[in-house]
Amino acid sequence: MTTVLKLGGSVLTDKHSPETVDEEALATAAEVIGKSLDASPDDPRATVDEHPPVVIHGGGSFGHPAAAEHGVSASEGTRDSAALVDIHRAMGRLLDRVVTALHRAGVPALPVRPLSFVRRTETGLACPTRSVEAMLAEGFVPVLHGDVVVHEGAGGTVASGDDLVVALAAALGAGRVGVCSTVPGVLDDGEVVPEIRSYESVADVLGDSEATDVTGGMAGKVQSLLTVDGPAAVFGLDELGTFLETGQAGTIIR
Ligand code: IPE
Repeated sequence: MTTVLKLGGSVLTDKHSPETVDEEALATAAEVIGKSLDASPDDPRATVDEHPPVVIHGGGSFGHPAAAEHGVSASEGTRDSAALVDIHRAMGRLLDRVVTALHRAGVPALPVRPLSFVRRTETGLACPTRSVEAMLAEGFVPVLHGDVVVHEGAGGTVASGDDLVVALAAALGAGRVGVCSTVPGVLDDGEVVPEIRSYESVADVLGDSEATDVTGGMAGKVQSLLTVDGPAAVFGLDELGTFLETGQAGTIIR
């Protein structure tokens, strides 16, 4: 069973300061992932041999400002290849930092760049997964990221990490899907909503993300995750270990 784990850009970066990594948060996330890989197969809480993770990270203060600068979003495309490469490069700089942190934590991470093989069609993201599956089979941890991708009829648009979570989870038949966010789940009056079954039930409590976010903040996250086949969890960094052990943490979106 495969785990698809998104590390939110706002967890890994300081969203208010351009291209700034939150080193402590990144190191913590990497260590927690590393520890879950070390779990002994005899340990009843061990997850990794059965659920090797595919990691996807968001844009944070790397991808979002670059995308906003060029007026590119999930729906607004461009045919300006230099603009697309500018956004892609910003994401590449964050990817490099994430992969390096994972290596330091002993995680056999390999970078996988969506622009090179993912496309957006009328029906959503088309995301071939043969090489990701081969990496998993060889014991590697593929690391993807929100990126610009070719969008049929619209040039190139942003594919958020959340969109990629949905596409990869479906393509890989992932048994576990998790999104690590800056908040411990979807909040209603400061309390974690344990379970969400429809968007309408939480529409009131989903505010807009304050910092530049071209892909919709928590509202967009919930909407994307509602389309995942099985349950998907939204949780904070404190619960990343719990998610990797049990597949459950924070808010479960069904
Ligand atoms: C955005 O990805 C990627 C780009 C802007 C190119 P996400 O939308 O998944 O990023 P976060 O997690 O919200 O920062």
